[in-house]
Amino acid sequence: MAAIGQLTAEGLVKDFGGLRAVDVTSFTLNKGEIRAVIGPNGAGKTTFVSLLCGRFAPSQGRIAFEGRDITTMPAHERVALGIAYTFQITSIFGNLSLYDNVALPAQRRIMLDGGGTLRERAMAALDRVGLADRAQEQAGTQSYGHQRLLEVAMGLALAPKVLILDEPTQGLADSEITDFIALIREVAEETTVLLIEHNMPVVMALAEQITVLDQGRVLAEGSPEAIRADAAVQAAYLGG
Ligand SMILES: Nc1ncnc2c1ncn2[C@@H]1O[C@H](COP(=O)(O)OP(=O)(O)O)[C@@H](O)[C@H]1O
Ligand SMILES: [Mg+2]
Repeated sequence: MAAIGQLTAEGLVKDFGGLRAVDVTSFTLNKGEIRAVIGPNGAGKTTFVSLLCGRFAPSQGRIAFEGRDITTMPAHERVALGIAYTFQITSIFGNLSLYDNVALPAQRRIMLDGGGTLRERAMAALDRVGLADRAQEQAGTQSYGHQRLLEVAMGLALAPKVLILDEPTQGLADSEITDFIALIREVAEETTVLLIEHNMPVVMALAEQITVLDQGRVLAEGSPEAIRADAAVQAAYLGG
């Protein structure tokens, strides 16, 4: 497939002192796909997506979104362009209601493009993750799984073109994981999804393409079937 990538990186490097955490020669995320990024702990997955969303500046290399160079663009401007992310570290406001948590990003999106009312946008985001009936409850009192879903709702409230999720199923119960898979399939009908995920059944159920990172580099890339059959991946990651 010779598609033009929606989000691409070339020669992307991130050094932390003497440690080269990311060293990705070439990366292409295509519009509409669900991509999983897998790899052992410390492989550079979080750092890599942090570069894509502008949370960290790269030491070398270039990043482009829809053909436009965004290498030096700050994170909030990338959000405005349509790159939203939720991170491993829980970022909800525990003392606010679920509604108020999603109202913040919904307000931001309305300021950017003016469509819809705040209430419509906020409730639609909660509804998509199945939390609409809890809108007035306090976020901090929710189960861990519901807090993770709230984070996804906060990302969706930004109406992103690309949604980046860093280990969203971490700490979810099996029943919640089933719901999560269905949610991401639905989200992916209108949004490109880049998912860092440790849970291999989730990866195999969702991903159209998998990028395997190991020591900051792309060790392998391909369909779930190809990745499962890859000897180097087995040795570095799946076998362990
Ligand atoms: N802010 C930071 N400062 C220094 N080293 C970091 C920082 N963030 C990550 N690292 C290091 O970079 C490497 C990759 O980390 P990370 O991207 O978090 O990996 P992963 O998400 O795949 O577990 C690790 O060796 C980690 O210790
Ligand atoms: Mg990580």
